[in-house]
Amino acid sequence: MDRNFALEFVRVTEMAALDSARYMGRGDEKIADHAAVEAMRKMLNSISFEGTVVIGEGERDEAPMLYIGEKVGKGSGGPRLDLALDPLEGTTICASGGSNSISVIAIAEEGNFLHAPDTYMKKIAVGPEAKGAVDLNETATKNLKEVAKIKGCEVEDLTVVILDRPRHAELIAEVRQAGARIWLIGDGDVSAAIATCKKGSGVDMLIGTGGAPEGVISAAALRCMGGDFQGQLTFRNEQEKARALKMGIRDLNKVYLIDELAKGNVMFCATGVTHGTFLDGVIFSRGGATTHSVVMRSESGTVRFIHAEHHFARKPKY
Ligand code: FBP
Repeated sequence: MDRNFALEFVRVTEMAALDSARYMGRGDEKIADHAAVEAMRKMLNSISFEGTVVIGEGERDEAPMLYIGEKVGKGSGGPRLDLALDPLEGTTICASGGSNSISVIAIAEEGNFLHAPDTYMKKIAVGPEAKGAVDLNETATKNLKEVAKIKGCEVEDLTVVILDRPRHAELIAEVRQAGARIWLIGDGDVSAAIATCKKGSGVDMLIGTGGAPEGVISAAALRCMGGDFQGQLTFRNEQEKARALKMGIRDLNKVYLIDELAKGNVMFCATGVTHGTFLDGVIFSRGGATTHSVVMRSESGTVRFIHAEHHFARKPKY
Protein backbone atom coordinates (compact mmCIF):
# COMPACT_ATOMS: atom_id res chain seq x y z
CA MET A 1 0.00 0.00 0.00
CA ASP A 2 1.56 3.25 -1.17
CA ARG A 3 2.18 5.49 1.81
CA ASN A 4 1.25 8.51 -0.28
CA PHE A 5 -2.34 7.31 -0.13
CA ALA A 6 -2.42 8.70 3.40
CA LEU A 7 -2.87 12.24 2.12
CA GLU A 8 -5.50 11.15 -0.37
CA PHE A 9 -7.56 9.49 2.34
CA VAL A 10 -7.25 12.30 4.85
CA ARG A 11 -8.95 14.53 2.29
CA VAL A 12 -11.83 12.09 2.43
CA THR A 13 -12.35 12.39 6.19
CA GLU A 14 -11.74 16.16 6.03
CA MET A 15 -14.54 16.59 3.52
CA ALA A 16 -16.92 14.35 5.45
CA ALA A 17 -16.15 16.29 8.63
CA LEU A 18 -16.58 19.66 6.93
CA ASP A 19 -19.97 18.73 5.52
CA SER A 20 -21.36 17.07 8.65
CA ALA A 21 -20.02 19.74 11.02
CA ARG A 22 -22.48 22.19 9.44
CA TYR A 23 -25.17 20.21 11.27
CA MET A 24 -23.54 20.30 14.70
CA GLY A 25 -26.13 20.88 17.40
CA ARG A 26 -29.01 21.02 14.95
CA GLY A 27 -30.71 18.05 16.55
CA ASP A 28 -30.94 16.05 13.35
CA GLU A 29 -28.74 12.95 13.37
CA LYS A 30 -29.90 11.71 10.00
CA ILE A 31 -29.05 14.86 8.09
CA ALA A 32 -25.61 15.12 9.74
CA ASP A 33 -24.86 11.50 8.90
CA HIS A 34 -26.18 11.84 5.36
CA ALA A 35 -23.93 14.86 4.74
CA ALA A 36 -20.89 12.90 5.94
CA VAL A 37 -21.75 9.81 3.90
CA GLU A 38 -22.32 11.72 0.69
CA ALA A 39 -19.10 13.71 1.02
CA MET A 40 -17.05 10.65 1.90
CA ARG A 41 -18.39 8.68 -1.05
CA LYS A 42 -17.74 11.47 -3.54
CA MET A 43 -14.20 11.94 -2.28
CA LEU A 44 -13.47 8.20 -2.33
CA ASN A 45 -14.63 8.04 -5.92
CA SER A 46 -12.10 10.71 -6.86
CA ILE A 47 -9.13 8.52 -5.80
CA SER A 48 -7.44 6.10 -8.20
CA PHE A 49 -7.84 2.77 -6.44
CA GLU A 50 -10.19 -0.20 -6.42
CA GLY A 51 -11.84 -0.09 -3.04
CA THR A 52 -14.36 -2.34 -1.33
CA VAL A 53 -16.31 -1.22 1.72
CA VAL A 54 -15.93 -4.01 4.26
CA ILE A 55 -17.14 -2.08 7.30
CA GLY A 56 -19.62 0.58 6.26
CA GLU A 57 -23.04 2.07 6.73
CA GLY A 58 -24.82 -1.27 6.85
CA GLU A 59 -26.14 -4.00 4.59
CA ARG A 60 -26.95 -3.12 1.00
CA ASP A 61 -30.73 -3.22 1.49
CA GLU A 62 -30.63 -0.78 4.41
CA ALA A 63 -27.86 1.63 3.38
CA PRO A 64 -28.04 3.34 -0.02
CA MET A 65 -24.44 4.56 0.13
CA LEU A 66 -21.20 3.11 1.46
CA TYR A 67 -22.94 -0.18 2.17
CA ILE A 68 -20.96 -3.35 2.91
CA GLY A 69 -19.59 -4.66 -0.37
CA GLU A 70 -19.91 -1.37 -2.27
CA LYS A 71 -17.10 -0.75 -4.73
CA VAL A 72 -15.55 2.70 -4.46
CA GLY A 73 -12.65 4.54 -6.05
CA LYS A 74 -11.90 5.40 -9.66
CA GLY A 75 -10.83 1.84 -10.32
CA SER A 76 -8.63 2.11 -13.37
CA GLY A 77 -5.95 -0.33 -12.29
CA GLY A 78 -5.20 1.23 -8.91
CA PRO A 79 -4.47 -0.98 -5.89
CA ARG A 80 -7.24 -3.18 -4.49
CA LEU A 81 -7.91 -2.06 -0.96
CA ASP A 82 -10.50 -2.82 1.73
CA LEU A 83 -12.07 -0.01 3.70
CA ALA A 84 -13.50 0.09 7.22
CA LEU A 85 -15.22 3.44 7.53
CA ASP A 86 -17.62 5.51 9.53
CA PRO A 87 -18.30 8.87 7.87
CA LEU A 88 -19.72 10.22 11.14
CA GLU A 89 -18.81 8.22 14.24
CA GLY A 90 -21.03 9.69 16.95
CA THR A 91 -24.05 10.96 15.02
CA THR A 92 -25.87 11.79 18.28
CA ILE A 93 -22.81 13.65 19.55
CA CYS A 94 -22.70 15.80 16.42
CA ALA A 95 -26.45 16.45 16.43
CA SER A 96 -26.30 17.56 20.05
CA GLY A 97 -23.05 19.52 19.75
CA GLY A 98 -21.20 17.24 22.18
CA SER A 99 -17.55 16.17 22.20
CA ASN A 100 -15.65 13.54 20.25
CA SER A 101 -17.54 12.95 17.01
CA ILE A 102 -15.14 12.11 14.21
CA SER A 103 -15.09 11.08 10.59
CA VAL A 104 -12.96 7.99 10.16
CA ILE A 105 -11.61 5.60 7.59
CA ALA A 106 -9.20 2.68 7.91
CA ILE A 107 -7.56 1.12 4.87
CA ALA A 108 -5.90 -2.27 4.43
CA GLU A 109 -4.95 -4.60 1.63
CA GLU A 110 -7.76 -6.89 0.49
CA GLY A 111 -8.92 -9.44 3.09
CA ASN A 112 -7.23 -7.89 6.11
CA PHE A 113 -10.25 -6.60 8.06
CA LEU A 114 -12.64 -8.89 9.92
CA HIS A 115 -15.97 -8.81 8.08
CA ALA A 116 -17.85 -7.92 11.24
CA PRO A 117 -21.63 -7.92 11.15
CA ASP A 118 -23.57 -4.91 12.38
CA THR A 119 -24.05 -6.40 15.85
CA TYR A 120 -22.48 -5.58 19.19
CA MET A 121 -18.97 -6.37 20.33
CA LYS A 122 -17.58 -6.74 23.84
CA LYS A 123 -14.36 -4.73 23.82
CA ILE A 124 -11.26 -3.89 25.78
CA ALA A 125 -8.70 -1.32 24.66
CA VAL A 126 -5.50 -0.09 26.29
CA GLY A 127 -2.54 2.02 25.23
CA PRO A 128 0.99 0.83 24.36
CA GLU A 129 2.20 0.74 27.97
CA ALA A 130 -0.39 -1.90 28.83
CA LYS A 131 -0.13 -3.93 25.62
CA GLY A 132 -0.29 -7.65 26.43
CA ALA A 133 -1.60 -7.07 29.96
CA VAL A 134 -5.31 -7.49 29.28
CA ASP A 135 -7.48 -10.45 28.42
CA LEU A 136 -11.14 -10.14 27.50
CA ASN A 137 -11.81 -13.57 29.02
CA GLU A 138 -10.83 -12.19 32.42
CA THR A 139 -12.92 -10.00 34.71
CA ALA A 140 -12.66 -6.22 34.62
CA THR A 141 -11.17 -6.37 38.12
CA LYS A 142 -8.34 -8.67 37.01
CA ASN A 143 -7.64 -6.55 33.93
CA LEU A 144 -7.50 -3.38 36.01
CA LYS A 145 -5.05 -5.01 38.42
CA GLU A 146 -2.83 -6.14 35.55
CA VAL A 147 -2.85 -2.69 33.94
CA ALA A 148 -2.07 -1.01 37.25
CA LYS A 149 0.80 -3.48 37.80
CA ILE A 150 2.37 -2.89 34.38
CA LYS A 151 1.93 0.88 34.69
CA GLY A 152 3.41 0.85 38.19
CA CYS A 153 0.40 2.53 39.77
CA GLU A 154 -2.67 1.67 41.82
CA VAL A 155 -6.03 0.65 40.37
CA GLU A 156 -7.36 3.86 41.99
CA ASP A 157 -5.08 5.85 39.64
CA LEU A 158 -6.66 4.37 36.51
CA THR A 159 -9.45 5.93 34.46
CA VAL A 160 -11.75 3.66 32.51
CA VAL A 161 -14.12 4.79 29.77
CA ILE A 162 -17.45 2.97 29.57
CA LEU A 163 -20.46 3.70 27.36
CA ASP A 164 -23.28 4.90 29.59
CA ARG A 165 -25.82 2.19 28.89
CA PRO A 166 -28.14 0.13 31.14
CA ARG A 167 -26.41 -3.04 29.84
CA HIS A 168 -23.26 -1.86 31.63
CA ALA A 169 -24.79 -1.54 35.11
CA GLU A 170 -22.97 -4.62 36.46
CA LEU A 171 -19.70 -3.70 34.78
CA ILE A 172 -19.83 -0.17 36.19
CA ALA A 173 -20.54 -1.55 39.66
CA GLU A 174 -17.58 -3.92 39.36
CA VAL A 175 -15.18 -1.20 38.23
CA ARG A 176 -16.36 1.07 41.07
CA GLN A 177 -15.82 -1.78 43.51
CA ALA A 178 -12.32 -2.33 42.11
CA GLY A 179 -11.59 1.35 42.83
CA ALA A 180 -10.84 2.78 39.36
CA ARG A 181 -12.22 6.09 38.17
CA ILE A 182 -14.87 5.94 35.46
CA TRP A 183 -15.59 8.29 32.57
CA LEU A 184 -19.07 7.48 31.32
CA ILE A 185 -19.58 8.53 27.73
CA GLY A 186 -22.84 8.90 25.85
CA ASP A 187 -21.46 7.75 22.49
CA GLY A 188 -18.28 7.47 20.47
CA ASP A 189 -16.23 4.52 21.65
CA VAL A 190 -13.79 4.78 18.71
CA SER A 191 -12.53 8.12 20.06
CA ALA A 192 -12.36 6.59 23.53
CA ALA A 193 -10.32 3.61 22.31
CA ILE A 194 -7.91 5.98 20.56
CA ALA A 195 -7.67 8.12 23.71
CA THR A 196 -6.08 5.16 25.56
CA CYS A 197 -3.06 5.60 23.28
CA LYS A 198 -2.74 9.35 23.67
CA LYS A 199 -0.26 10.48 26.29
CA GLY A 200 -1.92 12.93 28.63
CA SER A 201 -5.49 11.99 27.69
CA GLY A 202 -5.97 10.56 31.15
CA VAL A 203 -7.70 7.51 29.69
CA ASP A 204 -6.18 4.14 30.60
CA MET A 205 -8.76 1.69 29.34
CA LEU A 206 -11.97 1.33 27.38
CA ILE A 207 -14.23 -1.55 28.32
CA GLY A 208 -17.77 -2.63 27.59
CA THR A 209 -19.99 -3.45 24.69
CA GLY A 210 -20.41 -1.21 21.67
CA GLY A 211 -20.84 -1.55 17.92
CA ALA A 212 -18.88 -4.36 16.23
CA PRO A 213 -18.01 -2.24 13.16
CA GLU A 214 -16.59 0.41 15.50
CA GLY A 215 -14.54 -2.38 17.09
CA VAL A 216 -12.78 -3.19 13.82
CA ILE A 217 -12.12 0.51 13.17
CA SER A 218 -10.73 0.93 16.71
CA ALA A 219 -8.48 -2.10 16.26
CA ALA A 220 -7.08 -0.57 13.05
CA ALA A 221 -6.29 2.68 14.86
CA LEU A 222 -4.68 0.93 17.81
CA ARG A 223 -2.57 -1.25 15.49
CA CYS A 224 -1.03 1.98 14.20
CA MET A 225 -0.55 3.46 17.66
CA GLY A 226 0.89 0.35 19.34
CA GLY A 227 -2.05 -0.15 21.67
CA ASP A 228 -3.97 -3.33 22.38
CA PHE A 229 -7.56 -4.26 21.56
CA GLN A 230 -9.64 -7.41 21.88
CA GLY A 231 -13.23 -7.95 20.83
CA GLN A 232 -15.91 -10.63 21.03
CA LEU A 233 -19.10 -10.42 18.98
CA THR A 234 -22.28 -10.44 21.05
CA PHE A 235 -25.73 -11.16 19.70
CA ARG A 236 -29.18 -10.06 20.82
CA ASN A 237 -31.10 -12.70 18.90
CA GLU A 238 -30.89 -15.61 16.46
CA GLN A 239 -31.22 -13.28 13.47
CA GLU A 240 -28.01 -11.49 14.40
CA LYS A 241 -26.24 -14.83 14.77
CA ALA A 242 -27.50 -15.87 11.34
CA ARG A 243 -26.22 -12.60 9.87
CA ALA A 244 -22.79 -13.22 11.36
CA LEU A 245 -22.65 -16.76 9.99
CA LYS A 246 -23.71 -15.46 6.57
CA MET A 247 -20.82 -13.00 6.67
CA GLY A 248 -18.36 -15.81 7.21
CA ILE A 249 -17.96 -15.79 11.01
CA ARG A 250 -17.34 -19.40 11.96
CA ASP A 251 -16.94 -19.31 15.75
CA LEU A 252 -19.59 -17.04 17.28
CA ASN A 253 -17.85 -17.01 20.69
CA LYS A 254 -14.35 -16.22 19.52
CA VAL A 255 -12.34 -13.51 21.26
CA TYR A 256 -10.56 -11.67 18.45
CA LEU A 257 -7.08 -10.30 19.07
CA ILE A 258 -6.10 -6.98 17.53
CA ASP A 259 -4.30 -8.61 14.56
CA GLU A 260 -7.33 -10.74 13.81
CA LEU A 261 -9.56 -7.69 13.55
CA ALA A 262 -7.15 -5.65 11.43
CA LYS A 263 -4.09 -7.43 10.06
CA GLY A 264 -1.26 -6.57 7.70
CA ASN A 265 -0.40 -3.01 6.82
CA VAL A 266 -3.13 -0.71 7.99
CA MET A 267 -3.59 2.98 7.39
CA PHE A 268 -5.95 5.07 9.49
CA CYS A 269 -7.29 8.60 8.97
CA ALA A 270 -9.69 10.58 11.12
CA THR A 271 -10.87 14.18 11.23
CA GLY A 272 -12.56 15.80 14.21
CA VAL A 273 -16.14 16.90 13.57
CA THR A 274 -16.86 18.30 17.03
CA HIS A 275 -14.16 19.14 19.56
CA GLY A 276 -12.60 16.10 21.19
CA THR A 277 -9.95 14.54 23.39
CA PHE A 278 -7.82 13.56 20.42
CA LEU A 279 -8.83 15.92 17.63
CA ASP A 280 -10.18 19.46 17.47
CA GLY A 281 -13.51 19.93 15.74
CA VAL A 282 -14.22 21.88 12.56
CA ILE A 283 -14.16 25.65 12.96
CA PHE A 284 -15.83 27.72 10.27
CA SER A 285 -14.85 31.26 9.43
CA ARG A 286 -15.52 33.68 6.57
CA GLY A 287 -15.13 31.73 3.35
CA GLY A 288 -13.40 28.76 4.90
CA ALA A 289 -12.77 26.44 7.81
CA THR A 290 -10.03 24.67 9.72
CA THR A 291 -9.91 20.94 10.30
CA HIS A 292 -7.76 18.76 12.54
CA SER A 293 -6.93 15.26 11.38
CA VAL A 294 -4.68 12.36 12.16
CA VAL A 295 -3.07 9.98 9.67
CA MET A 296 -1.32 6.88 10.91
CA ARG A 297 0.33 3.81 9.43
CA SER A 298 0.92 0.51 11.18
CA GLU A 299 3.99 -0.30 9.11
CA SER A 300 6.00 2.67 10.37
CA GLY A 301 3.97 3.59 13.44
CA THR A 302 4.01 7.19 12.24
CA VAL A 303 1.25 9.34 13.69
CA ARG A 304 0.81 12.62 11.82
CA PHE A 305 -1.52 15.39 12.85
CA ILE A 306 -2.71 17.71 10.12
CA HIS A 307 -4.18 21.12 10.77
CA ALA A 308 -5.70 22.21 7.47
CA GLU A 309 -7.06 25.57 6.39
CA HIS A 310 -9.74 25.30 3.76
CA HIS A 311 -10.69 28.15 1.42
CA PHE A 312 -14.05 27.32 -0.07
CA ALA A 313 -14.00 29.83 -2.93
CA ARG A 314 -10.70 28.66 -4.41
CA LYS A 315 -11.40 25.09 -5.47
CA PRO A 316 -14.21 22.80 -6.54
CA LYS A 317 -15.68 20.94 -3.58
CA TYR A 318 -15.13 17.38 -4.75
P1 FBP B 1 -23.13 6.01 15.60
O1 FBP B 1 -22.11 6.97 15.13
O2 FBP B 1 -23.47 5.00 14.57
O3 FBP B 1 -24.30 6.75 16.14
O4 FBP B 1 -22.47 5.16 16.79
C1 FBP B 1 -22.20 5.76 18.02
C2 FBP B 1 -21.87 4.73 19.07
O5 FBP B 1 -21.83 5.36 20.33
C3 FBP B 1 -20.55 3.98 18.86
O6 FBP B 1 -19.42 4.73 19.18
C4 FBP B 1 -20.75 2.78 19.73
O7 FBP B 1 -19.89 1.71 19.38
C5 FBP B 1 -22.20 2.44 19.49
O8 FBP B 1 -22.82 3.67 19.09
C6 FBP B 1 -22.92 1.91 20.71
O9 FBP B 1 -24.18 1.46 20.32
P2 FBP B 1 -25.52 1.76 21.16
O10 FBP B 1 -25.80 3.25 21.05
O11 FBP B 1 -26.56 0.95 20.49
O12 FBP B 1 -25.27 1.37 22.56
